[in-house]
Amino acid sequence: MRTQVAVIGAGPAGLLLAHLLRLQGVESVLIEARSREHCENRVRAGVLEQGTVDTLHEAGLGCRMRSEGLVHRGIELLFEHQRHRVDIAGLTGGRAITVYGQHEVVRDLLAAASREQQKMYFEVSEVALDGLKTGQPSVQFTHQGVRQQIDCDYIAGCDGFHGVSRAAIPSEVLRTYERTYPFAWLGILADAPIVADELIYAHHERGFALYSMRSPRVTRLYLQCGIHEDLALWPDARIWSELRTRFASADGWTPAQGPIMQKSVTPMRSFVTEPMQYGQLFLAGDAAHIVPPTGAKGMNLAVADVRVLSGALGARYRDNRTDLLEAYSATCLERVWRAEHFSLRMTNLLHATPDETPFTQRLRLAELRQITRSQAAARVLAEDYAGLPFGMQNALPDGRGHCLDSVSARLR
Ligand code: FAD
Ligand code: DHB
Repeated sequence: MRTQVAVIGAGPAGLLLAHLLRLQGVESVLIEARSREHCENRVRAGVLEQGTVDTLHEAGLGCRMRSEGLVHRGIELLFEHQRHRVDIAGLTGGRAITVYGQHEVVRDLLAAASREQQKMYFEVSEVALDGLKTGQPSVQFTHQGVRQQIDCDYIAGCDGFHGVSRAAIPSEVLRTYERTYPFAWLGILADAPIVADELIYAHHERGFALYSMRSPRVTRLYLQCGIHEDLALWPDARIWSELRTRFASADGWTPAQGPIMQKSVTPMRSFVTEPMQYGQLFLAGDAAHIVPPTGAKGMNLAVADVRVLSGALGARYRDNRTDLLEAYSATCLERVWRAEHFSLRMTNLLHATPDETPFTQRLRLAELRQITRSQAAARVLAEDYAGLPFGMQNALPDGRGHCLDSVSARLR
């Protein structure tokens, strides 16, 4: 088959890219290794930056998010048994975050894709990319036992950290930057009413804990744990006991308990690929970069990448301009490295490391106290947490102010 853009991966990056391309009249074919049901039910991220929310609204995808998403104007930091509010919106000129599950975003995107007859193949295997530098790239895959080929102008590698796209770039061209962490997150989804207005990021000498939510009746909680943690050693009672210990607060606040519906362990990693493009292949989202989840940036970065990529591909087909495509990697990496720094900082600030000493523990508490006592320090954290506004980051390196407002206007 022939199309303009072959999109690999039906996570937030691939699905949103196909959607933004459709809105500009650019045709794509999307292939995905897992089943549609698997993609719709994969519980992961939960925090959407204002820019992500605006992008989804502009693209006509915000209907359910508007009614079911929970808008938060601040977060809480809990340490030394005290809760401290950081007024994210107040410190950033009104930028809020919205708590709305990644799988809900994926469901909204898949519903739109089906409505608009997006060509999609699920449960594909043996995916191979070819001709990336020839101007005539192609993607081969097997679907229901039949070998297929997509001939296209461009390939978007949106297949996550373990996908095949990044590996299709010759190793002598790629530079990768990586850091791993000596801990992981045990995440649970509990059928328990929410008992806090905002997310609570807790530092305790036993480790990090995070109180989040999915709806008024469903709580999402995370606990720092070992990298090779065996879930069998974490019966529900142990999880709740550890959560109560780490969230212990002088004002008596404690999370409400309820049946645990889902448990998982997530390893933590910082990783960046440079460049994010090679010939006609463009990497977006987790395929190009990973952040530890503490800063809630992963999905937001994926959305930011495809916003830039869809604008650049739109300009290519509409005006035959290729400068935006050429600048894709440099444009995205500016935001990526800012998010990498913030995510690492939040991770170090809130987790207990195995090589902890009384000295490093006191340094951490000094930094946490500064955030709660100095408005300047709180503003730095708030700006990073709320995320860069899109217009600012899309300025081209040569100073020509390309921002995607023209695309947004058309999308509206
Ligand atoms: P993915 O969602 O990984 O999608 C890639 C898709 O490609 C998958 O569907 C995969 O099956 C498919 N695929 C893989 N290989 C192939 C192949 N060979 N062929 C075809 N398809 C393939 N981010 C936030 O912004 N905020 C948060 O609050 C947040 N919290 C998180 C909490 C946890 C516990 C975790 C694990 C992550 C969190 N993240 C968060 C990160 C976020 O989930 C990811 O960054 C996001 O999923 C990236 O989207 P993506 O589309 O790039 O990749
Ligand atoms: C959630 C995940 C995060 O990584 C985070 O920083 C905040 C919230 C969540 O899943 O709700």
